[in-house]
Amino acid sequence: MNNNKSELELAHLHEQLRSESVAGNGLINRRHLLGLGLAGAGSLVAGNVLAADASGLVIPAWSKTPGRELSGYGSPSRFAAGVTRLAPQPNAISPGTGASRTPLHLLQGTLTPNSLHFERHHAGIPDIDPAQHRLVLHGMVRQPLAFSYEDLLAYPQVSRTYFLECSGNSGANSAPTAADNSAGGIHGLLSCAEWTGVRLSTLLDEAGVTPEASWITCTGADAASLGRSVPLNKAMEDVIIALYQNGEPIRPEQGYPMRLFVPGWEGNVSVKWLTQIKVTDGPANFRDETSRYTELLPDGRALQFTYPMGVKSVITSPSGQMTLTRRGLHEVTGLAWSGSGAIRRVEISADGGRTWADAHIEENQQALTLTRFRLPWLWEGGEAILQSRATDTAGNVQPARAAWVAMYSPANRYHYNGIQSWAVSAQGEVKNVYA
Ligand code: MTE
Repeated sequence: MNNNKSELELAHLHEQLRSESVAGNGLINRRHLLGLGLAGAGSLVAGNVLAADASGLVIPAWSKTPGRELSGYGSPSRFAAGVTRLAPQPNAISPGTGASRTPLHLLQGTLTPNSLHFERHHAGIPDIDPAQHRLVLHGMVRQPLAFSYEDLLAYPQVSRTYFLECSGNSGANSAPTAADNSAGGIHGLLSCAEWTGVRLSTLLDEAGVTPEASWITCTGADAASLGRSVPLNKAMEDVIIALYQNGEPIRPEQGYPMRLFVPGWEGNVSVKWLTQIKVTDGPANFRDETSRYTELLPDGRALQFTYPMGVKSVITSPSGQMTLTRRGLHEVTGLAWSGSGAIRRVEISADGGRTWADAHIEENQQALTLTRFRLPWLWEGGEAILQSRATDTAGNVQPARAAWVAMYSPANRYHYNGIQSWAVSAQGEVKNVYA
């Protein structure tokens, strides 16, 4: 039996839903929708779901014979083989350099599977033997120390869920024309994992930081020798030497056997393949904190050490390059985050920012992690511009694109956190636009 509604029934359901509208162009109050207990809401969402009918029950071939053997390390279904990182062609001039992005528009929830965590390398992925690797802690300390991987495993560890975002993320939207791309393609230098490791403060306390010290400078063991400076107060507050990512040893792409993890701050500071921490009385002014990872201002000056990532959100579905194939109820969903606290509120607009409705987010969001938001939307085949706007617990509100652009030089690509606009055409095509 097919559960498709007649045109008349659908028109009636749409009418009921319209009366539950919370903002222009079809945004619906989620609690009211659930409260209505609309018998037909399911069919509005799913299109042509079949009603359960025992006589129509088919037992498929895979239910009749044992399935494949067990395996040492799992992999996704072959039917989900398209859910991969968005990786560029290999870099011919500078091998191993570049970035692959998390396919945000193909994922749900808030945690990024390790195989889909974005990558940003400046000289490829070193193949480090943990037995040979050392982390040296020196400089303004009473006792310099050298830790092996085994040594670090013996220390007390903590587990924390944090997002990681490259400050170059979403930089495409700072360009004069809107690139035709997906949520992952534009904003996928963003991932979130549970990181487990040793608090840096534990190691600094053991080495004994001397009173004149105020910074640490950290270097990776890759061929880029990527280095970054971190103020000592942040290092003592919540920085960890991450050894595990979502429960397993961190991946080579993420810095195996150990990386610095600096919660809420631009990803570049979380030095991978960490091999050296020097305690100092000032920043080192490494290449990646002078010529790069600084924000160019309209008057030609640049901002340096702008560490926390701004409050931000992006609708991941519908996303650019998708097509809505049916009219009716859709769930608008996406991710919000801030480097200055937790997410307090996410608003959604379907009419290019004229009217806004509060999206549903779970209560008691943790700081410095990803927040999933959702809101039902009745799309009846008209044009729409979908936007989301996040507010964090520090009171920061995500800026409109124009407001962000006005703050910087046209050449600046870092720390973009302007509102993302997805235009939906009458044919259901979704495109990145500047609104
Ligand atoms: N650390 C080293 N040693 N080498 C690098 O190339 N890239 C940095 C940072 N740490 C990098 C590094 C940049 S620019 C970012 S955004 C993050 O690592 C990316 O971390 P991920 O590749 O685990 O996502």
